Amino acid sequence: MASRTETRDRKSDSSNRRKASSERSAFSFGGSGAQTGPLLGALAAGAALGIGANWARKFLMQQSASIAAGNEWDEILKLEHKATLATFDLLLATDDSETGKRATLVKKLAYALEKHAHQEENVVYPALRQANETVDADHLEHEHGYVKTFLYELDNMPKDSPAFLGRVREFRDLIAEHAKMEEEQVFPRFKESLSEEQDQKITALMNKEGMKML
Ligand SMILES: [Fe+2]
Ligand SMILES: [Fe+2]
Repeated sequence: MASRTETRDRKSDSSNRRKASSERSAFSFGGSGAQTGPLLGALAAGAALGIGANWARKFLMQQSASIAAGNEWDEILKLEHKATLATFDLLLATDDSETGKRATLVKKLAYALEKHAHQEENVVYPALRQANETVDADHLEHEHGYVKTFLYELDNMPKDSPAFLGRVREFRDLIAEHAKMEEEQVFPRFKESLSEEQDQKITALMNKEGMKML
């Protein structure tokens, strides 16, 4: 049986290991290839590698959105929240006869939300967990599951259904609440804990993931 001193030493070892691992993960998050490079240099590199016009187009799209938000991951996400809520409002302004417009707007919503969720789920939420913000990260990711459920329902619902706008309204409420929690609680607290370098890495990694969804 281990003595009390041995047990205490083991506990202290494991706590040091946890600390070291969290320090390592916070600093190594993103690895060396994730730095934001100058726009033209990256475009030239893409062309040189023969990746082609499609890659350059995606890169420019993601970069211009990033620049518009001051190259800050949380500002990029905020702008996406705003654009998504505006699409909801267009949808809520339709009537039951505008089935084509509703179908188009549901597709637009699905595309925007899938890209947004991909960025958060593949970069921001994992980074939150590394920073011991697991409860919030899990809660937010759980809500993303319901976002998919709403999208599935709206996609498969007849667009002239009298229940259509009611579901859109519930969906908008969920998104507004979710975005508010991210913007007002979770992201500011997390951002404050990041060094400038970590902050920039998250932006670069998020842009890299966002490009995959364009
Ligand atoms: Fe989210
Ligand atoms: Fe979000």
